[in-house]
Amino acid sequence: MKSPIPGLCALLLAALPLTAVQADVITLRFSHVVSPDTPKGRGALLLQQLVEQRLAGQVRVEVLPNGTAFDDASELQALQDGKVDILAPAISKLTPLSPKLKLFDLPFLFESRAALDHFQARSSGRQLLQSLEPNGLIGLAYWPNGLKQLSARKPIREPGDAKGLIFRIQNSDVLQSQFETLGATAVKLPFNQTLQALTSGTVNATENTWSNYWSQRLDQQQRYFTETNHGALDYMLIAKAERWRALPFSVRSTLEEIIDQVTFEVKKQSEAENQRDRGRIAATGGSEILTLTPDQRNHWRDAMRPVWKQYEAEIGSALLKAAENSN
Ligand code: LMR
Repeated sequence: MKSPIPGLCALLLAALPLTAVQADVITLRFSHVVSPDTPKGRGALLLQQLVEQRLAGQVRVEVLPNGTAFDDASELQALQDGKVDILAPAISKLTPLSPKLKLFDLPFLFESRAALDHFQARSSGRQLLQSLEPNGLIGLAYWPNGLKQLSARKPIREPGDAKGLIFRIQNSDVLQSQFETLGATAVKLPFNQTLQALTSGTVNATENTWSNYWSQRLDQQQRYFTETNHGALDYMLIAKAERWRALPFSVRSTLEEIIDQVTFEVKKQSEAENQRDRGRIAATGGSEILTLTPDQRNHWRDAMRPVWKQYEAEIGSALLKAAENSN
């Protein structure tokens, strides 16, 4: 039947404010502290893009990069307060909440990226994704960034060369112990304060992945890099459990499928992105990249090994064993 007042509905719709028309669209705010051109930055943008394709009109993802909305000192609280919905902090920064996650910070524990991926995909690794439940958080996925290297204003070849240096570290007791074991000092600082701290001399050394060094141009303050690959910088994609579970079931399932797809892509691309940025640092000619001989690498492993013992009780020897078995 023809409407008695043609065009009235259309007119009414046009008069409604945009927000009312879009009232049912769920906005998920994804805040992170790195640049868009890094493994995590690209992962966040891919998530946004896939959500736009598959959940158009139902969900939109707003990406807040570079720590501009919340830095890593404030983002966890922002998640709890519902000011953001998704974060991907480095696992190191979650260790104050879940001591078992300290496992991932133990230096030289995993012998290869494949071993770490294997561990994360198996039951012990999957269970650790749920270890933030007592804090009201849910772990959705592990995203890799890359392997960590050391840097300083002087060459570091042997463990003894780190003695007396002041390293900027992430908020992790294991990383603090790692450097203190070497006779160095460790200062916990948010990521976005690192460049400033290196420039002012508050710290004179650090550890990070090639992509994080390059995207912040930390290399301009660090003449020497040592390619130690002594640990991984991985992220845990997290949400507030209450908020996540309140999403309509079909939306949540699609989001989980999308997250799997993005995780696959981040895993595929991250190593290449880090190697690209290693190349960029080398090409500036301003920094020197030192590589370790097998003997030197053994010295580093031996020097840092006591840190495992120090944290074994907190982590649990079964978990430690499961991680070693992945090698
Ligand atoms: C750092 O603080 O060095 C990293 O956790 C930053 C990041 O999110 O990659």
